Amino acid sequence: MRLVLLGPPGCGKGTQAVRLAEYLGIPAVSTGEIFREAAMRGTALGREASGYMNRGELVPDELTIGILRERIQQKDCAEGSLLDGFPRTLPQAEALKMLLSGMGKSLGAAVNIDLDNETIVERLSQRRVCDGCGKTFHLVASPPPVDGRCDACGGRVIQRLDDEPGTILRRLEVYREQTAPLIEHYRGESLLKTVDGHGSVEEIQSRIRAVLAT
Ligand code: AP5
Ligand code: MG
Repeated sequence: MRLVLLGPPGCGKGTQAVRLAEYLGIPAVSTGEIFREAAMRGTALGREASGYMNRGELVPDELTIGILRERIQQKDCAEGSLLDGFPRTLPQAEALKMLLSGMGKSLGAAVNIDLDNETIVERLSQRRVCDGCGKTFHLVASPPPVDGRCDACGGRVIQRLDDEPGTILRRLEVYREQTAPLIEHYRGESLLKTVDGHGSVEEIQSRIRAVLAT
């Protein structure tokens, strides 16, 4: 099964992707995670991507499409993949369609997690992440261990650079201008399934599994 998780920054794509991928037995692929790992390793890709990311802008399509192409052609994606944060522009959506069609595959659904701006800003300001394995915490809903060390890998729990208040607002603006049009795009392709992003992590996961079963 090949799926796309759509939705504004902070709507819970990463949180839901990990759980859904495990349930479906396919890898979760996050372009944001790929860029962050590259930035942490200090590679040329990481240096280029982090400039855009830290300003809350999108990494250029050409670069992002190339990275995604390489990733979904890897062996572990042979039976499917769950794309978190890709596509984010109409050209990326077109590129994905062509890429899958070249592999004799197609997209099964685009799941859109809907959430209001106020909740988004609250969730992103309270988010903390592990700099080792990327595990995500929320200071209130799922707080990190007191010593600031990740309970999964022992890494440091930090705040993402793009979760600074001004950058959050810029990311929301970029989402509205460049990514939100994908909702209509996938509606037009009869692939869109929207779920309400309010409620507990488990409630949202159940909603996603329910819409995928229809
Ligand atoms: P990316 O990493 O994809 O960031 P994003 O889309 O802005 O989304 P986030 O990761 O911030 O939020 P999320 O929806 O995953 O929410 P999360 O589960 O963490 O991209 C980062 C950057 O990379 C982009 O800005 C861009 O520069 C670049 N990039 C990536 N892909 C690209 C592409 N395709 N094209 C171009 N550029 C690209 O949850 C948020 C918080 O809420 C957490 O603290 C979590 O614990 C908490 N939470 C989650 N669910 C709940 C709940 N139900 N109740 C309470 N708290 C909750
Ligand atoms: Mg994420």
